[in-house]
Amino acid sequence: MKLIDGKQTAAAIKEEIKSEVSGYIDQKDQSPHLAAILVGEDAASETYVSHKESDCKSVGMVSSIYRLSKDVSELDLLDTIDFINNDDDVHGLIVQLPLPRHISVDRVIDTIDPAKDVDGFHPVNIGRMVLGHPTYLPATPYGIMELLKRYKIETSGKNVVVLGRSNIVGTPLSIMLSRKTTPGNATVTLCHSKSAGLKEIAANADILIAAIGQAGFVTEDMVKVGATVIDVGIHRVAAPNTKSGFKLIGDVDFENVVRKAAYITPVPGGVGPMTRVALLLNTLKAFKLKMGII
Ligand SMILES: NC(=O)c1ccc[n+]([C@@H]2O[C@H](COP(=O)([O-])OP(=O)(O)OC[C@H]3O[C@@H](n4cnc5c(N)ncnc54)[C@H](OP(=O)(O)O)[C@@H]3O)[C@@H](O)[C@H]2O)c1
Repeated sequence: MKLIDGKQTAAAIKEEIKSEVSGYIDQKDQSPHLAAILVGEDAASETYVSHKESDCKSVGMVSSIYRLSKDVSELDLLDTIDFINNDDDVHGLIVQLPLPRHISVDRVIDTIDPAKDVDGFHPVNIGRMVLGHPTYLPATPYGIMELLKRYKIETSGKNVVVLGRSNIVGTPLSIMLSRKTTPGNATVTLCHSKSAGLKEIAANADILIAAIGQAGFVTEDMVKVGATVIDVGIHRVAAPNTKSGFKLIGDVDFENVVRKAAYITPVPGGVGPMTRVALLLNTLKAFKLKMGII
């Protein structure tokens, strides 16, 4: 069994980004700028946005956070997006989800300039991804594709099973892996809560990707010997013997599945760090497009 080390891979990619960004600072006196809008005071969202800010700083990118009250009207939020869309100094814009219930997520995403949509959630960018046109890929599937590429895991002709069809992970990943690309060219099955015979389908996978949000859902009997297992799930569970009192686990029963898999991602340290670095890759791309470098 070989562990797919997302932490180490993400660190290597960050070094690549940092050196490229430092070149732009030297030559053009400019660096990529990511703006994030944070609505309300949700603790998890605060943490995600502060990670994004520190990630930017660590590679020499500029980051700014627009903090809006949880009671902000949808119109005021859309006006803020419009303001940032028109700010030539900002290259990438994200709106941290979830949003309060009185705000339409669809309207918010539709308002982001597709050229600045570094989360890759705008319908224009999703359409471009489906057609295989250059675009910003959603961060988690993008990070997984990078892991498969850098670990040279063959996907062509392989039987890939994706568990979970969310718009941000399972659905885009299933499309990316079935396209005529490398990684790609796989035969993909996308499973969800209405899938019949899910266990048998999973047990036939050469590459099994779990993104369903159920702790320890993928058990040993659902994994073929020699399969590659990618665990997207993140769950915080009580662990009385640890200093913090909790630990993170994934959608895969790692302790047992590890015995059968040829490759497996851990939680933490697998897909999570790659999701973070993928946002930096998209922000760098937005900058290069704006500067006419690509
Ligand atoms: N590591 C990272 O960077 C990262 C990034 C994003 C998400 N995550 C984690 O990944 C997990 C999934 O998140 P998500 O946002 O992609 O998904 P999500 O929106 O929570 O949707 C879950 C998907 O799994 C399916 N599902 C749920 N229970 C199932 C079951 N018992 N059998 C079969 N299918 C089932 C659902 O089916 P239906 O469509 O039929 O309801 C749905 O398609 C969560 O733990 C989340 O925290 C991690």
